[in-house]
Amino acid sequence: MWYLSLLAVSALALVQSFAFGLVLPSDEAQIRRSKRSVNAQTQQEIASVMKCNTTIVGPSDPGWANATERYMQNIRPQVQLSVRPSCEQDVARIVRYANRHNIAFYAVSRGHSLTTDAARFAGIEIDMRNLNRIRVNPNKRTAEFQGGVYGYEAINNLWDKGLVTATGTCSCVSLIGPALGGGHGLQQGKHGLTSDHIVNLNVVLADGSAIRVNEKTNPDLWWAFRGAGHNFGIVTSFESKVWPDNFKRYFVRTYQYLGNSHDAVFEAVNRFQGNGTLDPSWLASFGLYAMNTTLSTTEATLYWVFLYDGPKTDAAVAALKPFDQLHPLSIDDIDIPYTEINTPIGGALNSSLCEPNKSHIVGTANLQVYNVTAQRAIYDLYNQNIRQHPELGGTRVLVEGYAVRGVKSFKSEDSAYPLRDDNILTYFDVRFDTASDPLIPFAQKWRNQTVDLWNAGQPTRPPTTYVNYAAGYESLEGRYGVEAWRLKRLRQLKRKYDSKNRFAWYNPIVPV
Ligand SMILES: Cc1cc2nc3c(=O)[nH]c(=O)nc-3n(C[C@H](O)[C@H](O)[C@H](O)COP(=O)(O)OP(=O)(O)OC[C@H]3O[C@@H](n4cnc5c(N)ncnc54)[C@H](O)[C@@H]3O)c2cc1C
Ligand SMILES: *[C@@H]1O[C@H](CO)[C@@H](O)[C@H](O)[C@H]1NC(C)=O
Ligand SMILES: *[C@@H]1O[C@H](CO)[C@@H](O)[C@H](O)[C@H]1NC(C)=O
Ligand SMILES: *[C@@H]1O[C@H](CO)[C@@H](O)[C@H](O)[C@H]1NC(C)=O
Ligand SMILES: *[C@@H]1O[C@H](CO)[C@@H](O)[C@H](O)[C@H]1NC(C)=O
Ligand SMILES: *[C@@H]1O[C@H](CO)[C@@H](O)[C@H](O)[C@H]1NC(C)=O
Ligand SMILES: *[C@@H]1O[C@H](CO)[C@@H](O)[C@H](O)[C@H]1NC(C)=O
Ligand SMILES: *[C@@H]1O[C@H](CO)[C@@H](O)[C@H](O)[C@H]1NC(C)=O
Ligand SMILES: *[C@@H]1O[C@H](CO)[C@@H](O)[C@H](O)[C@H]1NC(C)=O
Repeated sequence: MWYLSLLAVSALALVQSFAFGLVLPSDEAQIRRSKRSVNAQTQQEIASVMKCNTTIVGPSDPGWANATERYMQNIRPQVQLSVRPSCEQDVARIVRYANRHNIAFYAVSRGHSLTTDAARFAGIEIDMRNLNRIRVNPNKRTAEFQGGVYGYEAINNLWDKGLVTATGTCSCVSLIGPALGGGHGLQQGKHGLTSDHIVNLNVVLADGSAIRVNEKTNPDLWWAFRGAGHNFGIVTSFESKVWPDNFKRYFVRTYQYLGNSHDAVFEAVNRFQGNGTLDPSWLASFGLYAMNTTLSTTEATLYWVFLYDGPKTDAAVAALKPFDQLHPLSIDDIDIPYTEINTPIGGALNSSLCEPNKSHIVGTANLQVYNVTAQRAIYDLYNQNIRQHPELGGTRVLVEGYAVRGVKSFKSEDSAYPLRDDNILTYFDVRFDTASDPLIPFAQKWRNQTVDLWNAGQPTRPPTTYVNYAAGYESLEGRYGVEAWRLKRLRQLKRKYDSKNRFAWYNPIVPV
């Protein structure tokens, strides 16, 4: 079946208004990116090879702003045409068309890519949003998710059936985006990373072939996709484990502290988390510096959130006793269903953390334990910078202590995810409304200092970076593994499966 009526209309509009040769290659870099200009002819040709209800949006179409909007306003791929497949097979057709014509392509699921690499891209976007089917298998042990499914959809769809799966803690983010780089979330203490319980991937490779990737079929790619997947292909759908949840409630406690409690809280959290031995009935313990001007206009509030795998009546609340005694300014307890679990951590679909089209300066460094001296320096720097620029009060310094037992139960060498020794993720984020804000260089310096302090706080460990939080300037070893064999193996696989480096827009193993 061909459903091209929408296309025909937009193609006509394009003939009249499209700037032909939009991407006239003006330098080496651009020639590498797209060897042919993308124009109305491209649009018509792609339309003619699509086999299902795939829509194509060009720059003059009303849906263009929506199709090209990103989480990061300041790191935008240069999209020349947006193709939105409605069936998985069309993804392969787009890739083959693009290859025949030397046009670069780039899959977009939910648009939260943080790394600067995305800005180097120019070409055709493959917008995965219509590939959002979720189908629970009859045994209720696994489900199939298409490549465009995101957290909110998965959580709510499965909840109706009394099930949960591994998503991130922000409902706006896709399932597959995080999974390709590991995938951290509240299920990991019990079950491991999102990538650890995928059982099959349906993938389109750089040459446009559609293949299955699992433990038995294509085991080399199976290894690579789980940790370095963005470099190897487009996942059109995947099968992953789901678990019964029985509609239970989850206990969440939130504390607010000010600076006088800071060091003691971090010491207590180090004891609570036990350097990666926390019982997974505690799903996570997150800390955050952010301004709450009701409490103080001169120093950040230290929020600490604890999430438990069951209602308060079941929770080992005594484990939190030390935190009650460190002079919190508030203690909030709540029991919530899984559908709301991301809300108290700030990751609801309508949260400010999920809001798209803002500019962010982000930074990260992975840790094992908190170095209280380093953390204090980061806190003092935060307060000093806010005193200088109170308008940056939305800045967040987030530390994420998910339970890690499940993560450590998988062998490190069995997948490309290299960071199973790390217990804590960190995330620094200064947010601006526009990409031209004059304080951006100030924020970059602040970001650099904060990341440097985290790394200097663990002098005996080489810096490591969770690839999905990477800003793009970190070392490849930090992102893909300090053991030399890892990058060696990844580079070999890259030569075998993507010798032209078509997947080079997300923390590329072979830099562009
Ligand atoms: C607000 C926020 C919250 C986050 N929370 C978490 C969290 O809780 N846990 C966690 O682990 N990470 C988290 N992250 C990081 C997250 O893993 C990455 O930002 C991830 O890349 C986002 O995926 P996306 O689909 O939204 O973004 P996109 O920009 O659409 O995709 C990211 C990259 O993946 C590629 N890609 C997209 N779809 C596919 C596909 N189907 N097949 C192959 N490649 C594809 C894209 O080409 C792009 O390079 C968060 C990020 C943000 C901004
Ligand atoms: C094709 O997709 C468009 C846009 O998503 C939608 O409006 C239309 O109803 C779809 N048509 C069919 C036949 O599925
Ligand atoms: C994104 O923000 C910019 C700057 O504020 C604005 O010009 C643009 O219209 C916004 N885009 C969308 C899709 O809202
Ligand atoms: C884009 O459009 C879709 C539906 O058409 C809507 O759900 C979504 O919120 C829009 N996104 C933005 C960023 O406006
Ligand atoms: C944390 O545990 C790791 C082993 O997993 C060990 O190498 C490291 O020294 C420990 N750190 C501290 C501060 O105890
Ligand atoms: C700030 O603190 C006050 C007092 O504890 C509280 O009511 C309010 O919810 C806090 N605001 C935020 C954004 O956390
Ligand atoms: C988000 O939605 C919830 C209801 O689902 C509502 O209670 C909350 O106020 C909303 N938050 C924002 C910031 O709009
Ligand atoms: C931040 O660090 C990066 C990487 O070392 C560097 O390229 C950049 O110039 C630094 N920016 C500032 C403002 O210090
Ligand atoms: C903690 O960080 C400081 C630098 O802030 C460093 O000098 C010290 O060695 C670190 N302590 C440990 C135990 O790593």
